Amino acid sequence: MTRHFLSLSDAGGDALAAILGDAMDRKAARRGYPKGRHDADVPLAGHVLAMVFEKNSTRTRVSFDIGIRQLGGSSIVLDAGTTQLGRGETIADTARVLSRMADAIMLRTDDHAKLEELSHHATVPVINGLTDLSHPCQIVADLQTLLEHGKALPGLEVAWLGDGNNVLNSFVEAAGLMKFNVRIGVPEGYESDAGFIAAAQAGGANITLHRNAAEAVRGADVVVTDTWISMGQAHADAKLAAMTPFQVNAALMAEAKHDAVLLHCLPAHRGEEVTDDVIDGPQSLVWDEAENRIHAQKSILRWAFGQI
Ligand code: CP
Ligand code: NVA
Repeated sequence: MTRHFLSLSDAGGDALAAILGDAMDRKAARRGYPKGRHDADVPLAGHVLAMVFEKNSTRTRVSFDIGIRQLGGSSIVLDAGTTQLGRGETIADTARVLSRMADAIMLRTDDHAKLEELSHHATVPVINGLTDLSHPCQIVADLQTLLEHGKALPGLEVAWLGDGNNVLNSFVEAAGLMKFNVRIGVPEGYESDAGFIAAAQAGGANITLHRNAAEAVRGADVVVTDTWISMGQAHADAKLAAMTPFQVNAALMAEAKHDAVLLHCLPAHRGEEVTDDVIDGPQSLVWDEAENRIHAQKSILRWAFGQI
């Protein structure tokens, strides 16, 4: 059966743990390799990934592109504007055609339903490169970063501050699969998806909602934030004003455990959701987190091809 990675649950907890283990092993094995070199093995030799972007990307595009090259494969990048998708060719027909040529398809889209449609008609693995609903590849890199820094996942207290967005939805999904807890600190009207929360709670995670930022962060092991205005959302002064008390600054970080760490998927809007001193400070893991996108991506690809 074709393995799609539309959500973390498509893999499940056991496979997610195996993906994380593979990502860490491969990262360790590459130590000392110059950039641009293949891994010692080339498990995806001859495989071509087609990446379709309806939205901007730096990390996702570069990590998939270089990641599959390190595994011996290659990629092509398509955007809606210059393909026939931009002239109305259907997602279903695009899925059928790309499946005849490419070995896997990654899509970044403004509408999660398009990703589901693509996967229904594709006969090769389809990978979620971010939708309005979720960003599962990001969370694999985030969990890898936490594990590398000695944070065992079960029972971990993760505080999310700001907007209840796509990245938070995938974090909450991961909590149910890996048995950690998420304190969601968001202003009224900007809550995350109730379905993800219910599923995580059913999986044994403790997910709590907080209207006070300090209360959400108090005693947390991990503090996470993201842009207040995601791609495709209108810039709104009212939203920015509502988010301001949830800014991750030094005073808020001081409420967390003394060894708490900061994650941010990037790009950051410095001075909005996070201040310079925190993102550039000793508790910030954001550069390791960004690097881990490539290691995580490679293991997600290997899982999609049935190698994990
Ligand atoms: N974090 C993330 O997905 O970054 P890009 O938008 O640059 O891909
Ligand atoms: N929530 C952000 C994540 C960017 C990687 C967005 O969707 O724009």
